Amino acid sequence: MEITRVAVIGAGTMGAGITQVIAQSGVPVTLIDRDSEILTSATNRISAQLDRAVQRERMTRDEADVALSVIDTDTSIEGASDANLAIEAVPENFDLKADIFRQLDRACNSTAILSSNTSSISITRLGSQTKRPELVVGLHFFNPVPRMSLVEVVSGGRTGDIVVDTVSDFARALGKTPVTVQDFPGFVSNRVLIPMINEAIFTLHEGVAGIEEIDTVMKLGMNHPMGPLELADMIGLDVCLDILEVLHSEMGDQKYRPCPLLRQMVAAGKLGQKSGEGFYSYED
Ligand SMILES: NC(=O)c1ccc[n+]([C@@H]2O[C@H](COP(=O)([O-])OP(=O)(O)OC[C@H]3O[C@@H](n4cnc5c(N)ncnc54)[C@H](O)[C@@H]3O)[C@@H](O)[C@H]2O)c1
Repeated sequence: MEITRVAVIGAGTMGAGITQVIAQSGVPVTLIDRDSEILTSATNRISAQLDRAVQRERMTRDEADVALSVIDTDTSIEGASDANLAIEAVPENFDLKADIFRQLDRACNSTAILSSNTSSISITRLGSQTKRPELVVGLHFFNPVPRMSLVEVVSGGRTGDIVVDTVSDFARALGKTPVTVQDFPGFVSNRVLIPMINEAIFTLHEGVAGIEEIDTVMKLGMNHPMGPLELADMIGLDVCLDILEVLHSEMGDQKYRPCPLLRQMVAAGKLGQKSGEGFYSYED
């Protein structure tokens, strides 16, 4: 099966990035969100990213114009009805995503593949919200989508092999490297990464070392390009907390309990880069 038209639901950080890379590959894509202001802001961000790529001579003006011309927007899920692949990228909340999957199941052609960009929620549970669980798969892109080459392709309990192959081929056509993983909480990426970030926060909380010292140890000692606290600020502390809550409740293991300092910072609105303050300050 060839992917000829895509719908992306959710025009935030991930939805806009995913839309941009699909448009750059020349595949028509409809970006869907709740209101037109959010959609205008997302298409402006995509346009600015494409302008920057032209300035840096990574693409020609013509290629950027073609990419913009294949994007359209819609404020209704009905806008996904022509797509043969839908990619859901709304916030990390099961009830919200389940509702979107039920709506997509009604709106889309019965042969369309429905996927989620979820960081941690069970693809099998999302599939069971639909009448087509064999066509439901995880497509976990990474932030920032245009620069990060990995896509975790998550095979749910009832996902068909042909669906995994189809979306893996599609990821390759976008210039990405797909890796197939099974549907367990956090998949591979967040199962390994997020407990490391949580442990770094406990290390800070217990006074073992300061913020910059912890990040410096991990950068210079482990050759990580960013320290775990700096990375947590980039991901969003609320997103880190959401993923830990899923790991903790789904695995039932105390080792995934979120650090109280992380809870306190999220409650205080210190969410990292996006709020201007996290472990570091981004006021400027
Ligand atoms: N931010 C990251 O680094 C990252 C990385 C990988 C995966 N993810 C996952 O991607 C998903 C989206 O994350 P994000 O950071 O882009 O979130 P975000 O908050 O930036 O964007 C979410 C968008 O969904 C829209 N939305 C909410 N309810 C909606 C509805 N009912 N219908 C249509 N649109 C709706 C919001 O208006 C918003 O524009 C989450 O599942 C997250 O776990 C995030």
